[in-house]
Amino acid sequence: MSEVAQLLLDWYALHARSLPWRSEQPDPYQVWVSEIMLQQTRVETVIPYFERWLELFPHLPALAQADEQTVLRAWEGLGYYSRARNLHRAAQIVVSEYGGQLPQDAAELAKLPGIGRYTAGAIASIAFGKDEPALDGNLRRVAARVFDMPLPARSPQGERRLEELLRAHMPSGQAGRYNQALMDLGAMVCTPRDPACQTCPLRTVCAACRLGLQSQRPVLPKRPPVPHYLVTAAVIRRGGRVLLTRRPVKGLMAGLWEFPGGKLEPEETLAECLQREIREELGAAIRVGSQ
Ligand code: ADE
Repeated sequence: MSEVAQLLLDWYALHARSLPWRSEQPDPYQVWVSEIMLQQTRVETVIPYFERWLELFPHLPALAQADEQTVLRAWEGLGYYSRARNLHRAAQIVVSEYGGQLPQDAAELAKLPGIGRYTAGAIASIAFGKDEPALDGNLRRVAARVFDMPLPARSPQGERRLEELLRAHMPSGQAGRYNQALMDLGAMVCTPRDPACQTCPLRTVCAACRLGLQSQRPVLPKRPPVPHYLVTAAVIRRGGRVLLTRRPVKGLMAGLWEFPGGKLEPEETLAECLQREIREELGAAIRVGSQ
């Protein structure tokens, strides 16, 4: 076994977080529900929802048979409700097309609504012991540091490289523990800022730590600078009414209603800008009152 995997599994045996969906024999339905809830929500928030969910829908057929309003009510507070709708729809598909058993294969899982590449890998490895990586934000960060990967971690090449490296070190048959060890390490030790490298179980094998580059890994994509515009907007009244106009159907804030106006041109005063914009957009001449 790779030294990275051995150190990780040894650490996980002692320090794994105790979470309600984890067990020696994980229930695939519970793993699936937990992974969907964890997609955009923190572990501490998910736990009570997960427990209540299992009281309401203890197994996959119970979820498939529930009506959508009950499902959405059980999700209330977790946000991103498409997750609940997809979970419900997928449960019905599993009943009608897979005889009520979640498929074990990552590619097959990824055909179900709401299950992307990451979630498919997580379920296949944790619930079914398949040798699949589950590359989420935590794993990207940890792997980019351990293997000192210089490519942007979210770029297609970066993701491909991280997957290759994670697969190369994967202890066959123990991918579920390997992936969850990386998740826990990312949550508790190898944190985005100020990672606890002195107490990290991987400090002897972490390439970024050896080179002192941990704060520069993962490499983030170059973001274009946030544009900064000075804009004007006119409040044009007639009687008790105020004139609103609709933005173009394409582009920034497409189709939304706004006070008419626009961007300040060089060498223009705010009043001149407003008069020009209203002339261009509405063909009207205005007088600018107090500003
Ligand atoms: N985040 C997403 N999946 C997780 C899991 N199985 N354990 C801990 N954190 C997670």
